[in-house]
Amino acid sequence: MLNKLRVLLTGGCGYIGSHTAVELMRAGSEVVIADNLVNSSASVLPRIEELGGKRVSFYNIDVCDPEALDALFEREHIDAVIHFAGLKCVPESVSKALLYYRNNLDSTMNLLERMNAHGVRYIVFSSSATVYGESNVPPLREDMPTGACTNPYGMTKHMSEIIIRDAARAEGKLGAVLLRYFNPIGADESGRIGEDPQGIPNNLLPYVAQFATGRREKLFVNGNDYPTPDGTCIRDYIHVMDLAIAHVKALDYIVGRTGCEVFNIGTGNGYSVLEVIAAFSKACGKDLKYEFAPRRAGDIPVMYADSSKAERLLGWKAERDINKMCEDTWRWQSNNPMGYEK
Ligand code: UD1
Repeated sequence: MLNKLRVLLTGGCGYIGSHTAVELMRAGSEVVIADNLVNSSASVLPRIEELGGKRVSFYNIDVCDPEALDALFEREHIDAVIHFAGLKCVPESVSKALLYYRNNLDSTMNLLERMNAHGVRYIVFSSSATVYGESNVPPLREDMPTGACTNPYGMTKHMSEIIIRDAARAEGKLGAVLLRYFNPIGADESGRIGEDPQGIPNNLLPYVAQFATGRREKLFVNGNDYPTPDGTCIRDYIHVMDLAIAHVKALDYIVGRTGCEVFNIGTGNGYSVLEVIAAFSKACGKDLKYEFAPRRAGDIPVMYADSSKAERLLGWKAERDINKMCEDTWRWQSNNPMGYEK
């Protein structure tokens, strides 16, 4: 089914987009990328081509720009879109709330409108487990209530979900899949592509990886008084290649269908911050010393997925464990200590 499918990836130069691009090409699809490079680098493109074994068509455009999207859809024949593009820094979304709402919602609505105008019928959307907020008890299931998010970034994911769902209801011809990612980490096992955040990383794994190379001086564990066995927060870390495969399966599922389906993409296993640091220490062969620091505002003690719906309907299940996630992150980080540009 995916053979010869031509897929537009918005935000395809980013961490999850670049891994998905490679996996799509390995599955026989053609890839077109639209990215304004605000939080990514065009240096990833030759590496995507090297790993996927094909050329990528690249457009340096903003998905919020309707004319630019029209020009792309006129030039390229696109069968389906995977929408990764968006701002995603949680603390920044609190201080620049309107920027987040404007950017993340305009891009989603603009994309849906331009898809409709050009007869593109399938979309897979990059959503997040953050939509579950803090009141649901894990394992989190797709039918649990969403929208009580702790920050504007999370709200933009929730609102984009609603917009896509309602567009699918209204249009009748649209087929949409919302993928709620848990905590993506790891890298392609080649070590050629990986996560390369700008500035000091907000998320645990890129920070730990940079600490292990000596690029960061101290490692802080935020909060050791949570109601968990070791007092630190528990998350469902998922290997980015398992996540990339989930996108391929989601496309395979939706092409030829209409309506909107939502899937959790996690492993179903929770690991504490201390367990992750221990696994990473093993992977990099260094005893990573950390210090406890105060809780981070908005952190939820325990989150992990029930991903049985994805297994049932997509035939997808995570295969890579926490050790593999840390080993692959370390291969990327140690081979590219300063990321893509340097
Ligand atoms: C965060 C976002 C979430 C987003 C997800 C993307 C917040 C509140 N949530 O999730 O909306 O979808 O990233 O992957 O930012 N930690 C430390 N030390 C550090 C960094 C993190 O102890 O230097 C801890 C955090 O307090 C948390 C755990 O590690 O307990 C995981 O943090 P992180 O990687 O930022 O992921 P989430 O908070 O789950």
